[in-house]
This record gives sequence, C-alpha cells and structure tokens, in this order.
Amino acid sequence: MINDNFNIDESAVQAAAQSLFNSPYTIALVGAGISVESGIPTFRGPGGLWTKLGEPSGNGYEDFLKNPESWWLQNLDQQADPERTKFREAIDKATPNKGHYALVDLEKMGELQHQITQNVDDLHFKAGSKSVTEIHGNRTMLRCIGCETRWHRSGFPTGEIVPSITGPSNNFPPMCPDCGSPVKSDTVMFGEPIPRGTLDSCFLQSSKATCIIVIGTSATVYPAASFPQDIQAAGGILIEANPNETPLTGIADITLRGPTAITLPALVETVNLIKAESR
Ligand code: APR
Repeated sequence: MINDNFNIDESAVQAAAQSLFNSPYTIALVGAGISVESGIPTFRGPGGLWTKLGEPSGNGYEDFLKNPESWWLQNLDQQADPERTKFREAIDKATPNKGHYALVDLEKMGELQHQITQNVDDLHFKAGSKSVTEIHGNRTMLRCIGCETRWHRSGFPTGEIVPSITGPSNNFPPMCPDCGSPVKSDTVMFGEPIPRGTLDSCFLQSSKATCIIVIGTSATVYPAASFPQDIQAAGGILIEANPNETPLTGIADITLRGPTAITLPALVETVNLIKAESR
C-alpha cells in the first residue's frame, strides 16, 4: 500500500492545478500505474506482467486470424498461463481507487474533458467517468474485427461463448451476426491494429487538447505515447503524474512525482481552491 505521508511537491500541484483551470480543453492519457493501488500489477518495472513473462510476440493477432477457434480455446482455458490467470483474477476483483475517483471529480468539475486510457480493466467506467476512449480495448467486452461492433462478454447475441464438446458448433468460434467476421476479445493484442473508430477518437481529442495530463504510463507504447508530444508541439501544456521518470519527463512542463492515488486527489483539492477564489 502507498505511504500516505508521501511528501508532495506543493508548488508542482499548484502549477498543474492552475494549468487545468486555465486550459479550455484538457485530456488525460492514462496507463497501468493508476490501477496499482487497485491491486493490478503494471506491465513493466518491478513486478510487472511483462517483467515476469517477457513482452508478448507481435504475432498473437496473426495467430487469431489464422485460427480463431484455437485462439478462443486457449483464451478460454484459464490454466493456459498461470501468471496471466493471476493477472486476470487481480483485474476481476479490482475496484477503482482514489486516482480514478479524482479523474471523475475533474470531469464533473469541467476541468477534464476526456480520458484516453491504455488500461483494459474497466475501472474508469466503474468509478463513474463518462468521456473515455479505451485505446487498447476493454477486457469485459467483445469486438467484431470487421465492423468493430462491441458486445459485453455476457451479452453476445448467440449466447455464452463455450466450445462445443462435439467440435465446431454454429456458435463457436463466435462470428459477427451483422457482418460475419470473426469476433475476439476487445483487448487490443500486440500486432493488432487499433480499431479505426478508436484511433479517430484519440486523434480528434488530441487535436482539441490545450493541456494533457499523462498519468501512470511508461510512455513507451505507440501511438498512445505520441499524443502528449503532439499536443505539446501544438502549444499545449504537458503534465506528467508518475512516481518514476519516463521518456516524457524531460519534456514535461510540470511533473507530479508520486503515486497517483495521492497526487491526483491533491490536484483536485487545489483546483477546487483556485475555482473558489476565482468566484
Ligand atoms: N501511481 C502512478 N503510476 C505508477 C504507480 C503508482 N502508484 N506505480 C507505478 N507507476 C507507473 C510506473 O512508473 C510506469 O511508468 O506506471 C507505469 C506503468 O508502466 P507500464 O507497466 O509500461 O504500463 P503502461 O504504460 O500502461 O503500458 C502501456 O503497454 O503492454 C502494453 O497494452 C499494454 O496498455 C499497456 C501499454
């Protein structure tokens, strides 16, 4: 658990809060770090999933396209990889933490217009955020790779996705009832293109942003990591909230060093004070 008496850099929080208050259109780019206090390990760094397993090869998506049935059989076999199963179980029992709720507060206060999250854990929506683009998908959802229609895992039109014991059935592997293309989990795999609609949303939001707060991400995966740089190049303010340095730290206008379950609530409190004084 985090150390509650972490020494926050008050002047950095004040500067970040003032930037949000002054910014007509602020977005956030969020990574796995925000969910650490919800008990979900990150991917890189100490205890990270890829630190333990190594980063997946880029041909997972190709394998799916070649043989959706065997991909689904492995996906449904929880024992296929114990570390991944542990990761899935951590996500299943996770609840939002103070960092997620701070972003809900900023959205309600009109100080955060949109979030682009790389997380698939659904915790932004569980916390109550409304304006969110999940650039790497959402693990509670399914998606057609053809028309990008999405369904909740428990609400697929032809029912629960279970392999038939007598070989391929008309419901397995799942195919899109609208366009007939294969259906997979919504989570974007390594080597899989980001769905067109999702990418368009990210570019639209980035084009409107006058400030971006980059939260709990190693900023190493593209295209997500390009948005903060594009926004700053267009004259926007780049704020980074992370206990550690990242490739963006050197160009960040403001750095909130620390666990985001501490720094983001402090940011909300300071924005509230600025708003009260401006009335
Ligand atoms: N609060 C905020 N940030 C934290 C905390 C914390 N308590 N603890 C760690 N972090 C930071 C780390 O310093 C690191 O910068 O969270 C970041 C986690 O980095 P990654 O594990 O690389 O996660 P992320 O940046 O979200 O990965 C991007 O890579 O594998 C893909 O699809 C996966 O969406 C993921 C993408």
